[in-house]
Amino acid sequence: MGSKIAIIGTGYVGLTTGACLAHLGHTVVCADVVQEKVDALNRGEVPILEAGLDDLVQEGLRSGQLTFVMGAENAVAEAEFVYLCVPTPQGEDGSADLSYIQQAAAQIAPHLLSEAVVINKSTVPVGSTRVVEKALGRSDVFVVSNPEFLREGSAVHDFLNPDRVVIGADDQGTAIRVAGLYLGLAAPLQVTDPASAETIKYASNAFLATKISFVNAIAAVCEAVGADVNDVVLGMGYDKRIGNAFLRPGPGWGGSCFPKDSHALVRIAEDAGYDFGLLKGVIDVNEDQFARVADKIERMAGGSVDGKVVAVWGLTFKARTDDLRDSPSLNIVGRLRQRGARIQAYDPSLEDASDPRLEGIEVTPDPYAATAGADVLAILTEWDEFKWLDFDKVGENMAQKRVVDGRNLVDRTGLVRRGFTYEGIGRS
Ligand code: UDX
Repeated sequence: MGSKIAIIGTGYVGLTTGACLAHLGHTVVCADVVQEKVDALNRGEVPILEAGLDDLVQEGLRSGQLTFVMGAENAVAEAEFVYLCVPTPQGEDGSADLSYIQQAAAQIAPHLLSEAVVINKSTVPVGSTRVVEKALGRSDVFVVSNPEFLREGSAVHDFLNPDRVVIGADDQGTAIRVAGLYLGLAAPLQVTDPASAETIKYASNAFLATKISFVNAIAAVCEAVGADVNDVVLGMGYDKRIGNAFLRPGPGWGGSCFPKDSHALVRIAEDAGYDFGLLKGVIDVNEDQFARVADKIERMAGGSVDGKVVAVWGLTFKARTDDLRDSPSLNIVGRLRQRGARIQAYDPSLEDASDPRLEGIEVTPDPYAATAGADVLAILTEWDEFKWLDFDKVGENMAQKRVVDGRNLVDRTGLVRRGFTYEGIGRS
């Protein structure tokens, strides 16, 4: 039999968690603070692009196992488990801002059942389980850490097929209760203390960011010495200790997690008396990468982009999402605009330029329109469909047949054969 669960916050993490737990047979009430969002969700309208999420939300609404309400206090009255899935944005000093978590905890505290378990899913600094305990002020309620490892775009798949489930709890009994929620998932379950669970999340994201910065640094070396980074990664990946996952060179890493979590971990270490120079270097390499790719586009445009038209394919921080948060593409576009470029951009997930972050960018309805009269084409997000476009048509559209492939995505040989000047990342 399923459990009664409340979810506080219906962003990527909260909504995916709620819909997947309802799918696993639990009865789930999700709370948010935005009335229009709650109404839309109750009609089965999902505000984000996330494969399979619409179906799960509609399935949960139909079976009655998933409902959406306004206000955290209205979701928890009958809940045996309460997931905190509110944002932990980056504060001004780089540390994570815990005010949403504290507010949510204080708000639900008087309404919680005795013996309820409050589960921290938001990415929070080490020690936050204690912060939540304090904000709740309820000795009859338990608090555990249960970090999420969901990738945007495949969050539903990742939730239902996790590499591991990590539970950080002070006592085994509570850990076993939480573990029971995930029965039916075939995944290793790790029970540890709250501080270790919180650290696992930060260490995992920091390590993944390190892999990408490492490969982007190797790509820079490849360009300088005349090697091809794609072959280098292939050769490295045969070593089982290295593997080739998450070693795709690109315009740098972005999104809602890596930038904020890497800065937060530097800060956590600093506060604890450790200078995490390695991770600072990883962040610096990433900033350099934005600059390097912008410079590459400028060189390709003949040394200056002032008054030139730059066609951009891909604005989101990665493919298969509509998320623009901390997008490397937008960072690079911003640099080019500052140097006087006119940007004509296409992204499969965006219909228009209504988002304020796209101000000053002409968003076109299809990839060919973006290339009209362009002096250079920059491919900045790895949408699969860019590979299969008609490059004869692209060439005819452009003022100059020049491509900077920031994701090493398209067929270099085919483009060169069509008379394009091509530059990728780490392939001189
Ligand atoms: C990430 C983690 O993968 C996930 O486990 C965690 O819970 C949240 O943060 P996400 O933000 O969805 O997930 O993005 P991810 O797919 O990891 O990509 C992050 C960034 O790295 C993107 O900008 C992506 O384009 C870039 N990237 C990724 C590369 O440049 N090369 C790669 O090989 C992989």
